[in-house]
Amino acid sequence: MAWFNRSKKSGDVAVLEREEVKVSISIDQDTDFYRQSKMIHLNEQTLRNLASLQANVETHIDELVDSFYASMDHAPELLAMIEQHSTIDRLKQTLHKHIIEMFEGTIDDAFIQKRVKIAHIHASIGLQPKWYLAAYSALQDKMFERVAETIDQCRAIATMISFEQQLVLE
Ligand code: HEM
Repeated sequence: MAWFNRSKKSGDVAVLEREEVKVSISIDQDTDFYRQSKMIHLNEQTLRNLASLQANVETHIDELVDSFYASMDHAPELLAMIEQHSTIDRLKQTLHKHIIEMFEGTIDDAFIQKRVKIAHIHASIGLQPKWYLAAYSALQDKMFERVAETIDQCRAIATMISFEQQLVLE
């Protein structure tokens, strides 16, 4: 019984800590983005679960970014596309920042507009949606493997990635 009480207590502390993290989601209600977020249950609890992973993400960020570009070894035309328009080193920096932002716990107009702009950049270089989706899948797989510790954290990652994909395929 003592063990039960102790573990219940530490469980309560963990919940309190999660609830103290400041998260915010504000999307214009007149937009499809808002309706999409509601449809996939992207809410403050999702953002709290993502924010609870920030330290883990920072620990593994280099591995996440490296594995993202390593996965493109299977599609050399993508690497050629990168060399034509940019460099892997430069894109590693932008992806690093992008991933950290996914776990910051804030979704606002700036978050959405930035992703819409990234989508336009990719469309302008002719990146096909199938490669976009494959890249997100590889990233999600690595996040599940290296970063997430609970089912709820996996669900939050999957929800965020789905939202990003919807912004990109707009
Ligand atoms: C640029 C993220 C998939 C190629 C970028 C930028 C970000 C980004 C944040 C910087 C945009 C800026 O300069 O403001 C992502 C994410 C992806 C993804 C989150 C999917 C999970 C891919 C794939 C390729 C690719 C599969 C393969 C070719 C490029 C290139 C640029 C770029 C070439 C630079 C374009 C330019 O500066 O003209 N991406 N990317 N991206 N991405 Fe991606």
